Formats: sequence, C-alpha cells, structure tokens
Amino acid sequence: MPTPQQRIRTLVQTLNRYAHEYYTLDAPSVPDAEYDRLYRELEALEAEYPQFRLPESPTQRVGGAVLDGFETVVHTVPMLSLNNAFSPRDDETGAFDHAEFLAFDERVCKELGVVQVEYAAEPKFDGLAVSLLYQNGILVQAATRGDGTTGENVTENIKTVRNIPLKLHGEKQPALLEVRGEVLMLKADFAALNQRQLEAGQKPFANPRNAAAGSLRQLDSKITAQRKLHFFAYGIAQLAGAERLPESHMEELALLHELGFSLPEGYFGAYTGAAAVLREYERLAEHRPRLPYEIDGMVVKVNSLAEQQQLGFVSRAPRWAIAQKFPAEEALTTVEAIDVQVGRTGAVTPVARLAPVFVGGVTVTNATLHNQDEVARKDVRVGDTVVVRRAGDVIPEVVRVLLERRPMVEKQPALGGDLFSGSLEPLHEPFKLPETCPVCGSAIEREAGEAVARCTGGMLCQAQRAQGLIHFASRKAMDIAGLGDKQIEALVAADVLHSFADIYQLDIAKLQTIKDSKSAATKWAQNILDSIAQSRTPPLARFLFALGIRHVGESTAKQLAAAFGNLDTVRRAPEPILACLPDIGSVVAHAIAHYFRQPAQQKMLDDLLQHVAPQAAAPSPQT
Ligand code: IVH
Repeated sequence: MPTPQQRIRTLVQTLNRYAHEYYTLDAPSVPDAEYDRLYRELEALEAEYPQFRLPESPTQRVGGAVLDGFETVVHTVPMLSLNNAFSPRDDETGAFDHAEFLAFDERVCKELGVVQVEYAAEPKFDGLAVSLLYQNGILVQAATRGDGTTGENVTENIKTVRNIPLKLHGEKQPALLEVRGEVLMLKADFAALNQRQLEAGQKPFANPRNAAAGSLRQLDSKITAQRKLHFFAYGIAQLAGAERLPESHMEELALLHELGFSLPEGYFGAYTGAAAVLREYERLAEHRPRLPYEIDGMVVKVNSLAEQQQLGFVSRAPRWAIAQKFPAEEALTTVEAIDVQVGRTGAVTPVARLAPVFVGGVTVTNATLHNQDEVARKDVRVGDTVVVRRAGDVIPEVVRVLLERRPMVEKQPALGGDLFSGSLEPLHEPFKLPETCPVCGSAIEREAGEAVARCTGGMLCQAQRAQGLIHFASRKAMDIAGLGDKQIEALVAADVLHSFADIYQLDIAKLQTIKDSKSAATKWAQNILDSIAQSRTPPLARFLFALGIRHVGESTAKQLAAAFGNLDTVRRAPEPILACLPDIGSVVAHAIAHYFRQPAQQKMLDDLLQHVAPQAAAPSPQT
C-alpha cells in the first residue's frame, strides 16, 4: 500500500503522461473517463494532504486567485523582433517575387564567407510571444514579450495551457531553461469560442490572435483556463546544466521536443541554400489555409548557432533570421452588383459580385457582405471601389469602400430650381434588402434583435431546400460521394428532390434527368447510388449533424450522441436536460427541442427513418 505522498506522486506522473499524449502527441492512450477518475482521486488526496501537493500537479492548471494587475518581469535575454522580407505576387501569373529574401541570403553568405548556407525554417505563428522559465525542470515563471525588455508575469495563466509542461519530461533536467515560443488559439477553438460569445450576447473576437491575447491577459486565470490556448516552442533563450548543448537551431527544437514541447509537425526543417528555402516557403503558403492555426509567414534562421553568433544583431533584430511574410491577402476591385443569397436556414446574405481580382493566390469574384447592418455600416454600393480580404480559407469579405472613388453624378435640379446647381450626388442608391425572397417570393423577415433577415419560405423555398440537402449529403454529414452542390441543385431544380427521404428513392432514371450524355451517365449514376446505399447506417453523431438543426454543429452533434446514445432519446430529450450538457447553452437547447417538436420535422424524420438507421453510440460516462 503506497503512502499518500507516493500515491500523489504516481497520480501526477500518470496524469501528466496522459495529458501529454492527449494534448501534445494527439494520441490518447486511455479514455477520458479514466483520466477523470484518477484526477478526482488526486484532487481528494491533495485536499487531505496539501503539504504533498506538487508544483507540476495537473490540478494547478485550473486557474487560481484573481490578480489586481500583472507584475512586470525583466527579460534576462531581451525578446527581439525580426526583420521582414516580402514576396509580392505577380498580379497576372501569381508567381512570387523573392528579391527581398534573396538579398537577405546574399548578405548572410557574404558575411559568413560561404556560397551556401544551411537554414532552418518554420511557420511564423500569428499569436503572441511568451517566455517560459524552468528551474530544475519545474515551470517557475512565464512572461509576455512586452516591449522586449520587460514583460508581464502571466505564470498563473500560462499554467492553464494544456500543452505546456509544468515539469519537463525525461530523466535529466537542466538546472535552467528558458523557452521562447508563441501562444495562440487553434482556428477550431476560436470558432467555438466566438460561437459561445455570440450565444452569450457578447462581442465576438476579431481573429484568433486577439482571442489568444485577450485570454492570456486575464487577471482571473479561471477564465484563461476555459479558453483553449496552445503553445508552440521556437527557441531557447537560456540553457544551463544540460547534458549536452545544442549546436544548431534544429538541435534546439529536437531538445525542446524531448522535454515535452509541441512543434509545428510537418512544417519545420533544415534547408540548404536559398532555392530550397523558397520551395518550402511556397509549399507553406499553399498549405496555409489548411493548417489548424493561423500563420502570417515563414521564419528563416541560420541553422548553426556558431554562425548565428558570428552574424550577431543590428539594433533590435538578429542578422541571422528573417520573417518571410506572406503577401497581403487584400486587393482592390469594383462592385458590379449586390445580390442576395438564401442559405440553409433561410438566412438572407447580401453578396457583392466583384470584377475578378487575384487575392492571396486565388481569383475572387464574390465577397460576403454579411447582413443589412454591415452593408449599411460600410455603405457599400454598386460601382464602388472596395478593399477585399481573404483570410485563410474563409469566404472573402469586403473590408471598406474607397469613398473618393465612388461614381458621382450631377444632382438633379429640384423642380423650379436652378438648372445647374454644381453639386454632385452618388450615382447609386444605398443598398436595401428586398422584402421578398428572390428565389421563392416568400416574405423576408427580421426578428427584433437579430442581425440576419430570413426567408420565411422554409422547405417551400427551393434555395433553402437545396442548401439543406447539400449539407445533408456533405462529407462531414452523411458523406454521399458524388452528390455535391451541382448535382443537388440540378435535382432540386428538376423537381426530383424535395426531402431527405427522396435521396433514398433516387434511381438511375431520375439521376439521368440531370446528365445529358446517357452512355457516360450510367456508371456515374450507379456510383452515386452506391454511395447513397453506403450512407444508410450512419453513426448517430453524423446523422444529427446532417439534419442541419440550428446551432448544432459537429461537436454538439457528437455530444448529443454520446449523452443520449440513440435517436429516440435525443428526440424526446426535454429542453432543461439538454441545457445541462456541457457546451450546450439555453439557446442551443431551445433550438434542438424546438426542432424535434415541429410536426413537419417529425414527419420528415419518420419518412427518412424508413431508409436510414442511425447507429447507436455508446453513452459516454462523463456526460
Ligand atoms: S524567432 C530573435 N520564430 O515573431 C528572434 N519568432 O517579429 C526571435 N514569431 O515576437 C523570434 N513565429 O512573436 C521566431 N517561428 C518563430 C516565430 C516567431 C512567430 C513572432 C514572435 C516575435 C515576432 C518577431
């Protein structure tokens, strides 16, 4: 029988290993419930024997006392900035112009007296820089960059970041280690946070960087603990008492990884010569929209630490590194028309049709204007010259209007007034949402307090029907390969598809109505029918997501499936019970209960269940 102190030690070690597998390696070895069980045991033991509590205990990650303000920390090694190199793209061909990086490389080669240099390259994370201090393996202090010389002490907040080790891994701990890296919020966690902000009637964050900064600079670390932050290490500022000292940047990263830190897997490496670096830059630029975190360029560092030392610093930046920024994803173009689009939930979105423009690697012809208030706020009109922005893989948006370029005409003289008054007025009127749906003619209504206006046509509206069906068949929902946007829109327009159940009554003849050449069509239609057949036994979570219930995204659908196990129970779940699930607030609970109460939805579901059998999920013990 271990003593309480021994048991606490074992629990802390085991839990920290599980957390590392989960948060850093993305490879959990035990179910969440097992982690929770051990965690509760540790909590109880620590409450009984506070004298045995360890600084690296996972219970230290939940946040502590509320501070009056942050103390300042003087950085022993200053936190410098990087010089930038830009690689503008050619407007027509899209080819990068790397002149600035090539000039950097030339300077480095000349200074070192070599013809080719080995570089290390990694993403330029778009978060905020922090410095972590470990003494004898224990995290003792964390500070923001501040002005580079002094920063703020954010130790309590940093302890809540799950992929930062509270104790370094491995047998032999260095006496002193100062790690530099970036705290950020993953795109998915940012989207979920903003969704929660909106539901709570609070202002959403503008981007993941602001969300990360706002979360890290909370005086109440319990709030930080609820925000999912993430840390990537990118360098060592101090190291003493280590078994072996790294000789290159890549060796530093390898050591950091061994000690338990996350690295941007698949996106860091050593490259010899400028050409190899540039190939990596172009690969990273292409992958950028698919990365789970935001980056704004690639940082290129001379790999050898000896060579870094030889190159030294100028003013506030190293001469051995450069931030090779990605080209601005903004461009100027003109608005040719403003249309409205009707989405799956009937939401009516104004869309600017643009003169084609090349932004950050793709040609953009449409940009969302979000809603009537946004159009009014930005005062976007037909004929305007506008700035469009493409951020990551989201839909391009109109940032602002260049009012000085707005087309103007002479003011019409008032009846009986001067023939020529000399004053000008805009050629086009301000945009106003139509009062009826351009697709089905039903009234467009906007509820008090809501930003979006909606078409009231429901499933009568061809646009809503098509969007609902497209969502239903999409990859993350029922995953019906071959039945994409184009096919569904055509089948809806041909009056073949009206409901989810209709998908399961498609046959070769019906499918062929939307394909003109009959010979090639048979194989194509058979493939679609095969994928439809395969979709008949979906996991419950996918099925719930596919229904397109308002506010029910993938993660809420998973929660519902895990909590209730089968569709029948979800259908009958009372609103107050739904609202008790973690991450499901009253708004979402109401939307779910409301959905299943509608007689039209009940009939639709019963029809659909004639063809589809959602697979029960094992109820999760945590929920
Ligand atoms: S190295 C002495 N590596 O960029 C140079 N910085 O402009 C130390 N940043 O404040 C910086 N990703 O917040 C480095 N892979 C990376 C980075 C990175 C993002 C940020 C960092 C710094 C700023 C410098």
